[in-house]
Amino acid sequence: MKQHANNKGIRLKNWSTGEVLYDTLHSTSNVKALNCRSTICTANHMNTIKEVKPIRTGDAVLDDAKKFIDEFYASIEKFESAEHLNRWSEIKTQIEESDGYIMKTEELKYGATVAWRNAPRCPGRIQWKKLQVFDSRHVGTAQGMFEAMCTHLQYATNGGILRSAITVFPPRQKGRFDFRVWNSTMIGYACYKQPDGTLLGDPFNLELTQAAQKLGWAGKGTRQDILPLIVQAGDGEAHFFDIPEDLVLQVPLRHPKYEKFTDLGYKWFALPGVSCLKLDCGGLEFSAIPFSGWYSDSEIGSRDLGDKHRFNLAPVMAGIMGLNTETNESNWRDLAVSELVVAVAHSFREAKITIVDHQTACETFIEHFKSEHEERGGCPTDWVWVNPPGSFTTPVYHQEVLFYWIKPLYDYQDQPWKTYNFGKHFRGTLEKREIDYLKRFRHMARAALFAQRMFMKAYANRTKAMILYATETGKSLGFAKQLAHVFSKAFKPEVMCMKDYDVAKMEFQDLILVVASTFGSGDPPDNGEKFYKSLKKRFVEQGNTPNIASDKPARLAARIQAREGERNMRGPLVKLPSQRFEDPAQIVKSSDWLINVRFSCFALGSTVYKDYCAFGKALDALLGSLGAERIHRLECGDEMSGQEKTFKKWANDTFQAACEAFHIKLPTKAVVTIGTESVQEPVQSNMKLVSADASEGPHFTEYFSKSLGREVLPLKVTYNEVIAGSREAGPCTVQIRLSWQDLCLNNPVSFEPGDHLGILSENADEMVSKVIQKLNPIPSLEQTHRLMIQKEMLTIAGPRKEWVCYENLPPATVFDWFKKFLDITTPPTQSLLYDLATYATDPKEKEGLDMLSQDVGRYEQWKHSKWPTVLSFLEEFSSLSIPAEALIIKLPLMKPRFYSISSCLLSSPTCVDLTVGAVKFITEDGSSRNGLCSMYLNQATIGTTVNAFFRSEPRFHLPENPTVPIIMVGPGTGIAPFRSFWMHRAELMKVGQHLGAAIFYGGYRTQEMNLYREEKLQYQNIGAIELPTTYCREAVQGCAPDRVLVNYPTNEVVFCYDQGLVQMVISDNAFRMYESLYLQNGHIYICGDFQLVRYVRRILRLIFEEYGNLNEYEVKLALQDLEDSGRFHDRCRFHHHDDDPCLVDDIFGRIVGS
Ligand SMILES: Cc1cc2nc3c(=O)[nH]c(=O)nc-3n(C[C@H](O)[C@H](O)[C@H](O)COP(=O)(O)OP(=O)(O)OC[C@H]3O[C@@H](n4cnc5c(N)ncnc54)[C@H](O)[C@@H]3O)c2cc1C
Ligand SMILES: Cc1cc2nc3c(=O)[nH]c(=O)nc-3n(C[C@H](O)[C@H](O)[C@H](O)COP(=O)(O)O)c2cc1C
Repeated sequence: MKQHANNKGIRLKNWSTGEVLYDTLHSTSNVKALNCRSTICTANHMNTIKEVKPIRTGDAVLDDAKKFIDEFYASIEKFESAEHLNRWSEIKTQIEESDGYIMKTEELKYGATVAWRNAPRCPGRIQWKKLQVFDSRHVGTAQGMFEAMCTHLQYATNGGILRSAITVFPPRQKGRFDFRVWNSTMIGYACYKQPDGTLLGDPFNLELTQAAQKLGWAGKGTRQDILPLIVQAGDGEAHFFDIPEDLVLQVPLRHPKYEKFTDLGYKWFALPGVSCLKLDCGGLEFSAIPFSGWYSDSEIGSRDLGDKHRFNLAPVMAGIMGLNTETNESNWRDLAVSELVVAVAHSFREAKITIVDHQTACETFIEHFKSEHEERGGCPTDWVWVNPPGSFTTPVYHQEVLFYWIKPLYDYQDQPWKTYNFGKHFRGTLEKREIDYLKRFRHMARAALFAQRMFMKAYANRTKAMILYATETGKSLGFAKQLAHVFSKAFKPEVMCMKDYDVAKMEFQDLILVVASTFGSGDPPDNGEKFYKSLKKRFVEQGNTPNIASDKPARLAARIQAREGERNMRGPLVKLPSQRFEDPAQIVKSSDWLINVRFSCFALGSTVYKDYCAFGKALDALLGSLGAERIHRLECGDEMSGQEKTFKKWANDTFQAACEAFHIKLPTKAVVTIGTESVQEPVQSNMKLVSADASEGPHFTEYFSKSLGREVLPLKVTYNEVIAGSREAGPCTVQIRLSWQDLCLNNPVSFEPGDHLGILSENADEMVSKVIQKLNPIPSLEQTHRLMIQKEMLTIAGPRKEWVCYENLPPATVFDWFKKFLDITTPPTQSLLYDLATYATDPKEKEGLDMLSQDVGRYEQWKHSKWPTVLSFLEEFSSLSIPAEALIIKLPLMKPRFYSISSCLLSSPTCVDLTVGAVKFITEDGSSRNGLCSMYLNQATIGTTVNAFFRSEPRFHLPENPTVPIIMVGPGTGIAPFRSFWMHRAELMKVGQHLGAAIFYGGYRTQEMNLYREEKLQYQNIGAIELPTTYCREAVQGCAPDRVLVNYPTNEVVFCYDQGLVQMVISDNAFRMYESLYLQNGHIYICGDFQLVRYVRRILRLIFEEYGNLNEYEVKLALQDLEDSGRFHDRCRFHHHDDDPCLVDDIFGRIVGS
């Protein structure tokens, strides 16, 4: 092999294809390769290390750690970031103190995966990214090691669809014995020396079998006995454990042609798992790291079965084939070995167990070899090892390679039984004490089978489930917490807001669960946008077509992505391992960024919106495209029907799917009960109120800012007047002004017309007092409290219970918790009823509550007829005797409400106006109910402090080009944002800005409800708006409302629809609409409820048809263009009940049959 060094690196030629590659990576190697001398090649030696090497100290650790940590941070694109530098100084300090350091799980995962990439002797490295790393560094005992390895075996075997995995035990450490696995492969056949000196079994394992026997193991003495696992933990004592039979998958070997071979009754195990190497990574040496992949047919056929010093079946096979074994000229050995390989491949395939044929293995290796040169300038390779037996027919044979070691690496180490002091435990013949000892361990191995359930659970506690949520009004957070509770049964869940999540480290996550709502119209919630953009960026970086992840506004991109997702949905929904791994050629294509990550998504939304659950769908599609494995299909929870129920089902199903994916076995009962269990929070004995100093009480505004992650301002009410109706009777609308004039602000307030304000409202004092009076015992109203809950913490010494402060509520009085934080006006959910039922002292009431909490139909009927508040519920079920802490912990938190800003910053630089319609209604059973926030604002007196935050809604902003026409549609309080539009336009006109037309379509029930009537006329007079159609139902009295609508006050008939047939009669306005939107590329803004948006779409379709003379297809395109070019702006503020749908008809007329 000729190698010419030049400045491009060392030249490597493929003598079959003539292709040339250059290796530069070798220059980073500082590890001595082999013991080769100029005249002797030792490349086929397996392990030449005889002695235990001293543990590394000082600079040796420091140098490797530095290089490793630099590489790690470079890999996640954070090289020399503050995080990188801090981490390095932390590691340095630890090394200086102890010659070692604690690696973070993501660092270990990175190291273990890259070590595989660096392994010169492994031909299957194309899959290097797809490695499940089981971090078992917390394990302290031999039993623990055995259990972890059983988990590994079960996970990796996966019923025959093998998966690559590694289990990492604690690293070498001063003052402690090394953790070691004695077996060279996790599963292997024993070898017994017979009295006549012959060997029975796999001679490769003769020494290990003898060592096991010395420890007291006694095999059955058959030809293929599975060896026990022999392990040493930190105390240095070696223990053996029989592997439970159901964890060892074996394949009976059959030849498709030679039945006599089948009759021999040989078998082979499915899972090749190397367990004697160490991981040299970041200066640390992990001395016990069993890892496994899958076999290539020739490894078993040629080596394990064919080799003379192994099972030596070549002569047997040659005999069956009738070959002449007397002479080499018959080529009998090669021919026989080939047939052994055929038998192996045939048997594995028949049994549906992953195996790769050696030709494919070599082809994929060459592919990998080339791409590694492209990606990082080289691929360390040991030619002798990557070439399979009979390699001259494979493409690897002709490839020049370069052999060197780079770290992190899998390295050889001594064989531990050679230095083990057996005498310490077994002096001479076995004494009683030692027999007991043996019995104990045999028993332990058997007990392990029974304990499997338990240890699977224990293992799972260590598998992290990262629950990411994005929310606008808090529901997703609540669901995320419930999910965490479900997953805490078997996993280690962590709940995090997407905005705080570091996407760069996502690839090191085991399991990601997404709970996200959709807002705006198809937008991500604010706190999900950054996350989405980061994923999108990754998606493009992976070489994907940018049309899915373009620079379009997040909303549009999310929509397109959602559509893509839907399209993907039509194909196989769940990329199950069987689909991914069945065909090794497929494996090549799936080396994506999140290849080790499993995920499932729950999308919250409402079917009243066109882009139903668009954000959740987009995330689901993106994660799938980035290579993550979907363990359970995306589920969408519709706010309009059964969102909570859908969520619970998804949570349960996903939990079970995750248990299956990670091979966690739980008692069935535990899983079944989750759906009805309290998924909210802990049981009563695990919570308490403790007194706190009043000074601990929070500054509420600051607390809200922190918990919402946005700047909350304590605005002052400076004006609050009724502009329609009256406060005393029926519904009324108020104009309320909130000012920041006297506030000392960190950042100047900035907003644009179209933005809105989030209000953190408060419950009415009277209701709060009444609820508190219902608690048992009635808590003190003045005392500041902290709410404590008991949590189970996992420590090195095992699980421990600790009291921690309940994170959702700051220290405060019980009164303040109820007034400012807890939602006591929304009807209790079914799970709340279920939880509270235990506090009913009257058995009949308990029964009633149980029934409501289980029976959806009855619950819905109860909810809609009574619209119960927490107070009316406590009054209805008066036997409930609930301690304060129990109710507080189970109630949901109040959600902010949004109000369109009804003023403009240019004309009012220190305050905002809101136009608020007070929600008041009578329930079916005659009780009156008030909307929480609208009543809070309605009744806020001058000087009241209202906590609020600004929320930008770029989608509802005025067009960038002020000269294009705009059309505004806003019945009732839907007028609110448009007041800011015309005020803003008037200011622009003052400075000479030329403006396009602005036509406002309103609608109201009575003359009196014509909001801002005088003001509108004034703005019309200066040309800031046009008011062609302000319809009033009174004006068309006597006329069937579904036939004719009249423009008030001009009495011009605008639209007329004949019954059944949709016919537009006369309308200048309709033409203006067509002209503005279609001919002049204008924008349309709609503010109201979902029905209004639907009606407007229909009307536009008719107008385009009528005036544009467009056919059906062209109309569709025109409407699509209106949306896609961002000229159709809808704001759905209400979902149900709130607005009178008739008002909608009043604007455009009723479309019969619609
Ligand atoms: C972006 C945005 C902008 C908004 N802008 C404005 C605005 O400018 N002005 C404005 O007034 N509102 C606006 N809203 C609506 C506002 O946010 C609130 O939804 C509204 O004020 C009701 O809130 P509440 O707390 O008073 O009522 P809640 O306490 O939330 O109770 C109202 C709920 O009661 C339920 N209900 C049950 N039965 C009935 C019944 N028979 N009748 C009525 N409700 C029933 C409904 O589910 C209803 O949603 C906007 C909403 C959004 C999302
Ligand atoms: C102003 C507004 C806009 C919304 N837009 C959409 C939407 O485009 N698509 C959708 O499916 N749901 C939409 N929804 C419904 C929310 O996704 C739904 O209420 C969800 O339960 C909120 O969850 P959260 O509290 O976690 O944000 C919208 C809700 C509101 C109030």
